[in-house]
Amino acid sequence: MYFFYKAPHLALFANNKMSDKVSISRKPKLINLHEYEEYLQNNLPKPVRDYYHSGANDMITLRENRAAFPRYAIIPRILRDVSTVNIRRKILGNEISCPICIAPTALQKMAHPEGELATARAAARFNTVMALSSLSTTCLEDTINAGKSIPAPDQGFYWFQLYAYKNEEITRDLIQRAETSGYQAIVLTVDTPMLGRREPDLRNYFSLPSHLILANFQKYYQKSLENKKNHDEETVCKTDTNTLTMNTRPTIATHKTTATPGNNSAIANYFTLLIDDGLTWATIDWIKRNTKLKVILKGILRPDDAARAVEHAVDGIWISNHGARQLDTVPATIEMLSSIKKVVRDKCEIYLDGGITRGTDIFKAIALGANAVFLGRPVLWGLAYEGEEGVLDVLNLLKEELVLAMKLAGCVDLKVR
Ligand SMILES: Cc1cc2nc3c(=O)[nH]c(=O)nc-3n(C[C@H](O)[C@H](O)[C@H](O)COP(=O)(O)O)c2cc1C
Repeated sequence: MYFFYKAPHLALFANNKMSDKVSISRKPKLINLHEYEEYLQNNLPKPVRDYYHSGANDMITLRENRAAFPRYAIIPRILRDVSTVNIRRKILGNEISCPICIAPTALQKMAHPEGELATARAAARFNTVMALSSLSTTCLEDTINAGKSIPAPDQGFYWFQLYAYKNEEITRDLIQRAETSGYQAIVLTVDTPMLGRREPDLRNYFSLPSHLILANFQKYYQKSLENKKNHDEETVCKTDTNTLTMNTRPTIATHKTTATPGNNSAIANYFTLLIDDGLTWATIDWIKRNTKLKVILKGILRPDDAARAVEHAVDGIWISNHGARQLDTVPATIEMLSSIKKVVRDKCEIYLDGGITRGTDIFKAIALGANAVFLGRPVLWGLAYEGEEGVLDVLNLLKEELVLAMKLAGCVDLKVR
């Protein structure tokens, strides 16, 4: 078994002889997001950290997502009375503490045993939006219940990120469950007809650690075991119900009919087998007909696609290149924001993710027209460092940096232009 989770942390104050009280030890807060990233890189097993970190191909866009932000300079105003700044804002009608939200990332229990449960609680405590991945290691019902268990006045808002499956019944079932359990929006990811080529995953024969499953498909798991008893390997490998939980790890990763040399990633094979690569604009209308929830398109990079999304009456446009994990050499997301804002104006909300590691990055994204930004990897770094508290620390750190950037720039309110 390659999966190995290091002891969470050293107790700092546990044996304090001056006191009889048992203190609950906390790890020290780190000084910036780079240190959280470094912790993950030094403490998780190679296949896991590679899966979380890697971008597609030569990772040009991965570097570019981050490198683009410093190219925008902030020119500060002076003497503006910045003693009070307002960073609260409304997203899809709900007031959140600041425009920093949580992007969907798959397989969070590889970063921390509590995975999505910890992230959902941190989202509520930070009073923000969490988008849950279809490929979560905690089911969508348990995730939102964990968030809702945090007492008021803390409150999170939960969106469900949807991959459309070739099997329409599965897609319909996910939408229905998201609706029943209290999610507020369906975030349809539109940049992933196939999985991008992530070479570290291919090299590592990346697969889900054997103690985890894709929990939204747990109900298919028993069926899958029955199939295993009754069928030969090849039939089993081709069966939806069996592959849905990604528990057929050795079979999918190595089976001669599904894994070709150079395509040895279980998750890449999962997409090839199960995810619908035939989506069109008609799919958006189908989803809108099949849900009362708000609909957001995630993975838009072009102004003409953004205009088309507005014509299809979506509630939000999410500018994203999937954390540079899909098509390499696409532009950094921040580079596309102004031109997309120009065509969308205020016809629907605009979100942006990709490469955000500083409060100044967030300040720039809001200044250029985003209603909110979303964090992918930084949440995983916080999760790996200290679970729920680590995620909350990452969010608070960026919030503090954002407030500081505003004050130093002479800006007291984050109005969308
Ligand atoms: C490890 C990992 C898993 C991801 N899983 C999903 C997913 O299941 N669905 C999805 O729409 N996007 C997924 N994404 C993309 C993120 O939602 C987001 O677009 C991206 O991470 C933002 O860039 P950042 O990591 O630089 O913040 C994933 C990204 C990473 C790094």
